[in-house]
Amino acid sequence: MSVVTGLLILALGVAPATSAAARPNWFQPDYFNSMDLVKLFGLDETLSEKYWDLLIFTQSWPNTVCRQWKDKSEGHECFLPQQWAVHGVWPTKLGTIGPGFCNNTWHFKHQELAPIQEQLDQKWPNIMNGTAEDSLWKHEWQKHGTCAAQLEPLNSELKYFSKGLEWHDRYNMTKMLTDEGIVPDSTKPYLVGEINDAVKRQTGFNPAIECFRDPKTHKTYLFEIRVCFSKKLELMDCDGILVRKSAKHDHDLSVITNCRSDEEIIYPDIVPEPDNEPTVIVKSKKSFFDLADLMKTFKMLKVVQWLTF
Ligand SMILES: *[C@@H]1O[C@H](CO)[C@@H](O)[C@H](O)[C@H]1NC(C)=O
Ligand SMILES: *[C@@H]1O[C@H](CO)[C@@H](O)[C@H](O)[C@H]1NC(C)=O
Ligand SMILES: *[C@@H]1O[C@H](CO)[C@@H](O)[C@H](O)[C@H]1NC(C)=O
Repeated sequence: MSVVTGLLILALGVAPATSAAARPNWFQPDYFNSMDLVKLFGLDETLSEKYWDLLIFTQSWPNTVCRQWKDKSEGHECFLPQQWAVHGVWPTKLGTIGPGFCNNTWHFKHQELAPIQEQLDQKWPNIMNGTAEDSLWKHEWQKHGTCAAQLEPLNSELKYFSKGLEWHDRYNMTKMLTDEGIVPDSTKPYLVGEINDAVKRQTGFNPAIECFRDPKTHKTYLFEIRVCFSKKLELMDCDGILVRKSAKHDHDLSVITNCRSDEEIIYPDIVPEPDNEPTVIVKSKKSFFDLADLMKTFKMLKVVQWLTF
């Protein structure tokens, strides 16, 4: 009796809702994306290739970005705002990079950003002058925005970029560092621990710090600072995100960084100019098995070989 009633209710309730027009075509090969399968079969959704755990909000220091850009080719020019710039808002699965490019049919449309264009120009600028004005935004949207769009508050270009601008205002890196006595000054290096502690005091959470080791100046520069947000868009520790390994294997795990705990990090007030010193392998207190050094040695040997044979 109750089974029959149940079936009747089901038939009455469901049948009209799934009229022929609205009924999904189950046999269309692209009907199921991985998220649908995950939902349908109650699979562990963390197995989906588009699944992510948190958002990394990355700001970069324009003078360091510019140095990298100039290293790539002579004649490269930069647009240089004198404050930290947004790089991106990156959906991230713990312990790995990405996912990226979650929806390749969701193309970037520059005109959708018209209401916030001026703010983007200032706060989320394309520092690499000479590339298309919107090339950074286009890349960020296609690679990261289409994945972030799984969350309702980020499910359009305008929402995604506006969130980055909002966080840039709220977690103003220029101000947070200045308030902690960390100011751009090419003559006064810092340790990564100092920078980490300063940001942590300001936000209450562990950030991640990226350094850039300039092969031309042989110095290390402060490059990016990342803070992390949960899927509820609340600040959280960046613990567990993947960072590039430092050149020397560093056992100081208290800071999430590719900078070495003992090296001097320059927060440059100008775009660093390359030194004119000849390139030499500087022997310092480095561990024996340093891959970067081995590579350099290998390249040197190649040059020597080439010169002598
Ligand atoms: C960037 O490039 C454009 C055109 O290539 C040029 O007009 C502009 O002055 C440049 N801006 C800076 C800051 O170099
Ligand atoms: C992918 O983007 C298209 C175009 O905006 C949209 O119609 C579609 O719903 C998106 N697919 C997913 C799975 O989000
Ligand atoms: C960030 O703080 C600096 C220093 O206090 C200020 O000059 C700048 O305008 C602020 N930026 C934003 C986007 O509010």
